[in-house]
Amino acid sequence: MENAIEVAGLVKVYKNGTKAVDGISFHVARGEIFGLLGPNGAGKSTTIKILIGLLNPTAGELRINGVDIRAYPAEIKRATGYAAQETAIDDRLTGWENISLQGRFYHLPGREIRDRATEMLKMFDLYERRKDLTATYSGGMLKRLDIACALIHRPQILFLDEPTLGLDVQTRQMIWDYIERLRTEYGMTIFVTTHYMEEADVLCDRVAIIDQGKIVALDTPDALKAGIGGDVIYVRFSGIDGNEAALRTKIGAVAHVRRVEPTADGAYRVIVEQAGEETIPQLFALCDQLGITINAVSLKKPSLDDVYLHFTGRAMRDAEESREAHARARIMRGRARRGK
Ligand SMILES: Nc1ncnc2c1ncn2[C@@H]1O[C@H](COP(=O)(O)OP(=O)(O)OP(=O)(O)O)[C@@H](O)[C@H]1O
Ligand SMILES: [Mg+2]
Repeated sequence: MENAIEVAGLVKVYKNGTKAVDGISFHVARGEIFGLLGPNGAGKSTTIKILIGLLNPTAGELRINGVDIRAYPAEIKRATGYAAQETAIDDRLTGWENISLQGRFYHLPGREIRDRATEMLKMFDLYERRKDLTATYSGGMLKRLDIACALIHRPQILFLDEPTLGLDVQTRQMIWDYIERLRTEYGMTIFVTTHYMEEADVLCDRVAIIDQGKIVALDTPDALKAGIGGDVIYVRFSGIDGNEAALRTKIGAVAHVRRVEPTADGAYRVIVEQAGEETIPQLFALCDQLGITINAVSLKKPSLDDVYLHFTGRAMRDAEESREAHARARIMRGRARRGK
């Protein structure tokens, strides 16, 4: 079975010369929740707009359900739903009117619009408020209505651009619960952009980190976290009086241990390169041999935040350098012109 989304060598250069997307490639499997993470201006919205056919790419291969999106725009429109970064709700209309309007935009028959609008408003817990003007809705309700509108034509693939931006923690959690339900109840494929790492970690099967139009990392959250290494095992011993230095050396020699640091409370931090849970039994075995007891042990893994910093932090420094180089080049060109 083909993938829901396939992108190869996608490039977007805007008319003003901005290269918003710089040769990205990835695929999204059917039924997958795929996250695109990245700082402001990384190219997330541009990528989404190209995938749903709102923007033309400068170069690249794009397939939705195995179909070239430029050759079959009508099929792509039917197969995809899109909720933009800014909600597209008309606040002079009620919730019901907004979603019905969306159904007419897709030329759906009246009966289908009524059935589907009812189903979606119920799913997003908005049915009771359907007759109220959306001007009276909260930010979270507006976002839910916006997503419901994107689902009126039963798309197989849903694109959500920052669905939780600016919402409070509880409302964000609620939106993610709805997204999860869309996958389990309808088998939908979901492509989502976000700034919130904890959410991406919990919800996304795989995430791509994009920076300056380039994908700098792409994998499952767990693999990304394991990839940057640095699991930390905190361990406390008893019965080592006088043998601390020898113990540290022996721990340091255990496979995959990168560093051993004493902590302020008389314990040790063992930084490992691989999954820390696999090193812990080796520490126990070592202590058995040495006749030392482990009193306490805990494991801390890097978070997706750490991964993000790891990749975009470095990239942002590079970006600063390239911006500087750019500015310098402009000055040089200006001088050359004035010199003429
Ligand atoms: N219509 C446009 N014309 C020219 N440049 C644009 C246009 N739209 C976006 N850009 C530029 O393209 C780059 C990528 O923008 P994009 O909106 O895709 O980023 P983003 O990752 O969605 O950012 P954010 O997190 O702020 O939403 C930015 O440098 C932006 O200024
Ligand atoms: Mg954006």
